[in-house]
Amino acid sequence: MECSTDKKKKIIIAVDGFSSCGKSTFAKSIAARLGYIFIDTGAMYRAVTLYAIECGAIRSGMVDADRVVALLEDIAIDFRFNPVRGASDIYVNGELVEGKIRTIEVSNLVSAVSSIPEVRSKLVAMQQRMGRDKGVVMDGRDIGTVVFPDAELKIFMTADPMVRARRRYDELTAKGEKVSLEEIARNVASRDRADQTRKVSPLRKADDALVLDNSCMSVEEQMEWLNEKLSRLGVA
Ligand code: DC
Repeated sequence: MECSTDKKKKIIIAVDGFSSCGKSTFAKSIAARLGYIFIDTGAMYRAVTLYAIECGAIRSGMVDADRVVALLEDIAIDFRFNPVRGASDIYVNGELVEGKIRTIEVSNLVSAVSSIPEVRSKLVAMQQRMGRDKGVVMDGRDIGTVVFPDAELKIFMTADPMVRARRRYDELTAKGEKVSLEEIARNVASRDRADQTRKVSPLRKADDALVLDNSCMSVEEQMEWLNEKLSRLGVA
C-alpha cells in the first residue's frame, strides 16, 4: 500500500558551510522533519583520516599522500542507523568509529587528507551513489557545488568564528577531552583557511545557495527559516 507521504516530491538538500556551524545538527533535524536520510560527509573524510593514522600513513603530523591513496583500496565505509541516537553511525571495514573520528587529533589532520584529489573523488562517487534515489540531506563543504550541483535546495551555513570555536569547545569538553578554547579557535581558523584555499573543491557558496548565518539563532529559529523555504518548494 502506498502512503500519501510516499507520493510527496523527494528532493536533495545540500547543507554546506564552515566547520562547527551546527551543520550536522541542522541537517539531522531537516532529515527527521522530512523522513529523509541524513549523510554527514565530514564523517567520511574523518574516517579516512583515522584509518590513515591507524595504518601509519600519517606520522608526526606529516601526511604521506601516496600511502593514503594506496589505502583507499582497502577502506570500506558505511553508515548504519543507530536507533538510540536516532542517527546513523559510521563504520570503517565493519568497525564502529563514530567515537574515534571527532578527536582533536583527527580534526587537526583531516584538512590535509581531504585535500588529496583521489580521496575526494572516491568519497564524492560514494556520496553521489547514496543520493541517487533523492530524499537525502547531505552536509559538507562541496555538496551544492560538486557532489549535487543540481540539488533542489542548497543551504550555505555560516557563523562568527568565535561562536563556532565556543560551540566546538563545549562539545569536546562535554565528552571529557582536555582542550583549551584558544587551541580550538586556532583549529577553526586553520580549517577555514584550508577549506577555502585547497585546490580541489574549495569551500565556496554555490551561486544558487541560500545563506543561513546562525551566530545568534536558536535551533527553533533555524527550523522556522527552513519551513518557509520548504513550503515555497512545495516539499513540506
Ligand atoms: O564537517 P566536519 O568538520 O566534520 O568535516 C571534517 C573535515 O572534512 C573538514 O575539515 C573539511 C572536510 N570536508 C570536506 O573537505 N568536504 C566535505 N564534503 C566534508 C568535509
